[in-house]
Amino acid sequence: PAAPADAESIFAAREAARAAETLADLRAVLEAFEGCALKRTAANLVFGDGSETGPLMVVGEAPGADEDRQGLPFVGPSGQLLDAMMRWAGLSRDRARIANILPWRPPGNRTPTPQEVAIMRPFIARQIALVRPKAILFLGGSSAKTLLDTDEGVTRLRGKWRDCAIDGLSDPIPALATFHPAFLLRQPGRKREAWRDILTVAQRLREAETA
Ligand code: URA
Repeated sequence: PAAPADAESIFAAREAARAAETLADLRAVLEAFEGCALKRTAANLVFGDGSETGPLMVVGEAPGADEDRQGLPFVGPSGQLLDAMMRWAGLSRDRARIANILPWRPPGNRTPTPQEVAIMRPFIARQIALVRPKAILFLGGSSAKTLLDTDEGVTRLRGKWRDCAIDGLSDPIPALATFHPAFLLRQPGRKREAWRDILTVAQRLREAETA
């Protein structure tokens, strides 16, 4: 359970996120938000990047060292693999919005705490609501778990469409999880499954376009 200070930060985050009417507002609100200590150790805010209107939203976990330095998501080795996967599936990066659950790098790339995730979740949910993508691709179990409210691990979750309910949107968004590119860099034998997943997403977006 969240400590009282965390409950206050979660409340403040919800209120601040809800008040943002545009992505520019949301970025400004995040720049001003003081409820998460990760901000103090991070070099830069890593807000979302890419399309402001979808059709695809890609959600990772947290920025790494390269992202922290540049203030942009998925620009390091994981980002290069993500780009290659997307290109291969015919998904162009400029038709996707790419963001993370956490907009600040945890020191030394440690795993984010449940409190940090709970505090920052309203902001990523709001970013998704403002983009209104046709589909969401979760990279890794932790982003999927956070926004799908499930305890299932990525090995079970991956490759299957789920409904992702987002505050402020009347309809859930179809969402699919796959392995995180950082995991694939360590375990290249699992790429086959991830590439299948990304093709599934590309196929659905093509169908949505021709429908
Ligand atoms: N890993 C993530 O989850 N996000 C990034 O932006 C980079 C690496």
